[in-house]
Amino acid sequence: MLLEIPRHTEIFGSLKIHELQRVIKLDSGDFESPLANSIPREAIRDVLKRSAMIIPIKNEKIHLLDGVLRAIPHDTSVIVVSNSAREPQDRYKMEREAVEHIANLTGQPIMMIHQKDAGLAVAFNDVRYEHILQGDSVRDGKAEGMLIGILLAKSMGKEFVGFVDADNYIPGSVNEYVMDYAAGFCLSESPYCMVRLAWRYKPKVMEERLYFRKWGRVSESTNKYLNMLLSACTNFETGVIKTGNAGEHAMTMKLAEILEFSTGYSIEPYHFVYLMEEFGACAAETPFTDAAREGIEIFQIETLNPHIHEEKGEEHINAMLIASLSTIYHSKLCTDFVRDVLRREIEEMTGKRGEPPENLKMPPIQGIDAERFLKVLESASETFERFGYHSHEHATSASTAAEEEENGFYDALEK
Ligand code: GDD
Repeated sequence: MLLEIPRHTEIFGSLKIHELQRVIKLDSGDFESPLANSIPREAIRDVLKRSAMIIPIKNEKIHLLDGVLRAIPHDTSVIVVSNSAREPQDRYKMEREAVEHIANLTGQPIMMIHQKDAGLAVAFNDVRYEHILQGDSVRDGKAEGMLIGILLAKSMGKEFVGFVDADNYIPGSVNEYVMDYAAGFCLSESPYCMVRLAWRYKPKVMEERLYFRKWGRVSESTNKYLNMLLSACTNFETGVIKTGNAGEHAMTMKLAEILEFSTGYSIEPYHFVYLMEEFGACAAETPFTDAAREGIEIFQIETLNPHIHEEKGEEHINAMLIASLSTIYHSKLCTDFVRDVLRREIEEMTGKRGEPPENLKMPPIQGIDAERFLKVLESASETFERFGYHSHEHATSASTAAEEEENGFYDALEK
């Protein structure tokens, strides 16, 4: 792959935020360009083998999940964490069938679990991580699903974790996202690295035409205020942050282990806020001295593919934006000026006066014994399953049977 060399890198304490890099060529063979970052296929493949891709899912169309599963490169493992309805229709059961089907056809290792599985609460209590629980089960929320996935990846000894939403209409774009993650990791000089994607376009139908929009409302606003926060800290105005809400992102396990997580959809902007607070120039002493010494690198890559996903409506967008802005508002780095502007923006949106509610936080998982977590989970869980782990020979030797199964599966889906 050929990636643009970032023109500028914002350095803030131990944090390096690289400017947006465009994909010049997705597959550039072994061509070594003097004008770009060249990442050989083999290097990407090597990273993929050490990675797990986590798919958080809640009540999405099965066809979309199916496309996403097919698009993730074979060399990486997949972890599906579902919070889908079990009643009146058991959507989880339908997802499970799709996952099993793909794993049987391809031999790709896929783990799957339901977020509300009582066994998860047993396992989290056992490793003393009750921050993710509400009552006797795991809280709702995308971040909570992602965190379960990270722990499962850690238990498998994976060195990189990436996230892909399940509601993507373009399987080819999902395939690119995973390759972009791997390429970003190949460029990093630090073992503490995050790769965040900005979509080239997010097309919309406007006046009966397809309009290739660049920014969504949530991203535009979150980026603006994250940049304002960073500028207020450094006293130099910057617009370096372009991926404040990047749902599609990936990180090294070393970084995942030391991150604090904000609940629900505020998880992605909070990565920036937390890293600035913990590793920025004015940070107090951090317990993560190795990371402070090595430095933390954030790559922002603009995808070649456009992003088309399920639209969930105005209310959903507003809730996501308020949760995002609230992480900035409540940051200990936030100045009175930034807070005032934010408060006015939020009041205008909600029609309510006062401070936005603060998001819940979940502490770093570094101290958790992930193997023990998995062991307890395996014995207490009702839904945890692994597919495709030993079926590689079966998948390659039984192509006719697989084709038949494939046809049968889709006949069943259509009914
Ligand atoms: N496990 C789990 N648990 N998954 C969930 C939950 C939950 O409680 N809630 C949502 N998801 C899944 C969805 O099914 C989807 O696969 C993914 O998380 C993203 O959720 P969406 O509701 O589709 O979010 P979005 O498309 O509006 O926003 C996405 O893009 C934003 C950037 O524009 C998300 O990735 C955001 O996090 C991101 O900021």
